[in-house]
Amino acid sequence: MNSFIGWIGGKKLLRKEIIQRFPDKIGRYIEVCGGAGWVLFGKERHAELEVYNDVNGDLVNLFKCIKYHCHELQRELSFMLNSRELFEDFKTQYNVRGMTDIQRAARFFMLVKTSYGSDVRSYGCVKKDVSVMVEYLTKIQERLARVVIENKDFESLIKVYDKPDALLYLDPPYYGTEKYYEADFPKDDHKRLCEALKGIKGKFLLSYNDCEYIRELYKEFTIEEICRNHNLVGRYNDKDSRYNELIIRNY
Ligand SMILES: C[S@@+](CC[C@H](N)C(=O)[O-])C[C@H]1O[C@@H](n2cnc3c(N)ncnc32)[C@H](O)[C@@H]1O
Repeated sequence: MNSFIGWIGGKKLLRKEIIQRFPDKIGRYIEVCGGAGWVLFGKERHAELEVYNDVNGDLVNLFKCIKYHCHELQRELSFMLNSRELFEDFKTQYNVRGMTDIQRAARFFMLVKTSYGSDVRSYGCVKKDVSVMVEYLTKIQERLARVVIENKDFESLIKVYDKPDALLYLDPPYYGTEKYYEADFPKDDHKRLCEALKGIKGKFLLSYNDCEYIRELYKEFTIEEICRNHNLVGRYNDKDSRYNELIIRNY
């Protein structure tokens, strides 16, 4: 199934390639930098235990409200419209004190859905029917019924869930794109992540942009490159339309 939102760096187009490289037998599936969860939603079930995690509290609050209060969230959203004026209002309102989690989640959902490239910052000017988007949340609630939702930094999450039968899928902010995310991801966090993955008991699969820094950092692991088309560039200029992504594994 599709995710219910787009997200910067979302793996909508790459998820088939990623999932087909997962091991056959997984006891627990841990999505460490979950974002919109495109890989999680890419399969009916990855494992007996599934965990979705992201450090972004607004995003995790939205996932939790869908899982535990879907009907109330849909009701809150039924009063909302896709318009530039409301977009600007939601931006100033969604994090003020006194809002309930459901009110915050509804505003954040509208911001993601109606912003340009899901960046939550600028209005996207795209005609979208709110009622269709809202109805789809019922399906997402069903899919999340047995998924554990966490809001932790990757290092503490890995410590808690790493076991020999675990598969950790990680999709951190790409090297050089850290500033596009709400969560702070300093350059040193790429090293911190690599250190946290060295010597884990379970398996990991990591997606990254292809650059020398990351290749050097992970040189002791299996690194595979995948050639992709830039969605927009490819339409206008064939020469520059292809680029590489890396899939890095410890198995
Ligand atoms: C490339 S996006 C993930 C996209 C996701 N795979 C998808 O398909 O939508 C990277 C995510 O990592 C999260 N993130 C940033 N720093 C993190 C940290 N220290 N621990 C866990 N997640 C983090 C960001 O909030 C962001 O949602």
